[in-house]
Amino acid sequence: MQKRIGIIMHGVTGRMGMNQHLIRSILEIRRQGGVALKDGSWLMPDPILIGRNAEKIAALAKQHGIGRWGVDLKKALESKEDSVFFDAASTQLRPKLLKQAIKAGKHVYCEKPVSTTLAEAVDMYKAAKKAKVKHGVVQDKLWLPGMLKLAKLRDEGFFGKILSVRGEFGYWVFEGDTQSGQPPAQRPSWNYRKQDGGGIILDMLCHWRYVLDNLFGEVKAVSCLGATHIPFRWDEGGRKYKATSDDAAYATFKLAGGAIAHFNSSWTVRVRRDDLLTLQVDGTKGSAVAGLRGCRIQSYAKTPKPVWNPDIAQPINFFDGWEEVPDGNYDNAFKVQWEMFLRHVAGEGPFRWGLLEGAKGVQLAELGLKSWRQKKWLDVPRLKA
Ligand SMILES: NC(=O)c1ccc[n+]([C@@H]2O[C@H](COP(=O)([O-])OP(=O)(O)OC[C@H]3O[C@@H](n4cnc5c(N)ncnc54)[C@H](O)[C@@H]3O)[C@@H](O)[C@H]2O)c1
Repeated sequence: MQKRIGIIMHGVTGRMGMNQHLIRSILEIRRQGGVALKDGSWLMPDPILIGRNAEKIAALAKQHGIGRWGVDLKKALESKEDSVFFDAASTQLRPKLLKQAIKAGKHVYCEKPVSTTLAEAVDMYKAAKKAKVKHGVVQDKLWLPGMLKLAKLRDEGFFGKILSVRGEFGYWVFEGDTQSGQPPAQRPSWNYRKQDGGGIILDMLCHWRYVLDNLFGEVKAVSCLGATHIPFRWDEGGRKYKATSDDAAYATFKLAGGAIAHFNSSWTVRVRRDDLLTLQVDGTKGSAVAGLRGCRIQSYAKTPKPVWNPDIAQPINFFDGWEEVPDGNYDNAFKVQWEMFLRHVAGEGPFRWGLLEGAKGVQLAELGLKSWRQKKWLDVPRLKA
């Protein structure tokens, strides 16, 4: 038996909305016949695409064989046909839209960051709690194969006591000066304008918050140094603009349990590592280096014993002595979280990754920016549930 669930999808002409949420998640769930429920029935998402530009949204709907689309969000929110509102549009717009949806009694699911300020994020959480609607925030990295492998190693006690976590994230984002022969930029230009909700600290510290909290210990304090390494970029229309937000962040975190994490996040770095994101975890009994999908480990017994001698060529190949963790059966990380959220809306199972968790991400980003401004370490107070 099939049960229909109507979902208003907003912001799906964008990079994340279209690729990860519409195509890789919702349409893929439809293709597999829905989300399996405990009673043997299948929950089938029925999306309606809502956007500002009728032409664009109609073309997208047509391309994917979606019958329902529109430009009137207010009308969509009033409709009884759809019980879930999803938003992957601009971060700055999100609090207003989510609050409208909550007011209309919709369950809400959205991209991160949930807002650009902690005050707005907490406000949304309180509104959802009061209205008793279900809520979720994208925390996709938790379901990446590389992170799932790290979680398993941690649960098996492979690391012993975890001492430190080193995160390297980033790649070169082209400035977009196509008239001078550069390739077009591969990220939207708003990312580099503070006034439009941009900046790598706001973007990435939200991710690092849930990765650290869930895998290695709650974040207790932060010290962050940001930078705007590239002062000018070119937008989607080929116009030169001033980069007003940070494009790199060098942040250190103290975690509950004593581990120390340091993450370099940058859109101005060239990649010489296994993946766009790598996490090295060092523990008393062993270490691991995970990328988005792969993960390599080195146990205490396999740890080499180097001696400092710059007068001879390094006799140890440090890339040897690491072992690949075997692959399991992994699905797209965004889709996995969507399936859990939809089951939760259908009344099956708890869902930990709601607006309070989303607010924690914004809290860390806000404190990261403050730490940079004030040039000091800041404690991360626990948010009230
Ligand atoms: N989970 C992740 O890893 C991840 C990665 C990238 C971006 N994001 C988040 O996803 C969101 C979208 O990012 P993106 O990279 O897809 O950006 P994008 O610029 O490609 O897409 C933005 C979308 O919002 C729509 N939009 C913008 N302003 C609007 C307005 N005033 N009214 C209605 N619609 C409007 C655009 O038409 C487009 O559909 C952001 O909040 C971003 O932080 C999350």
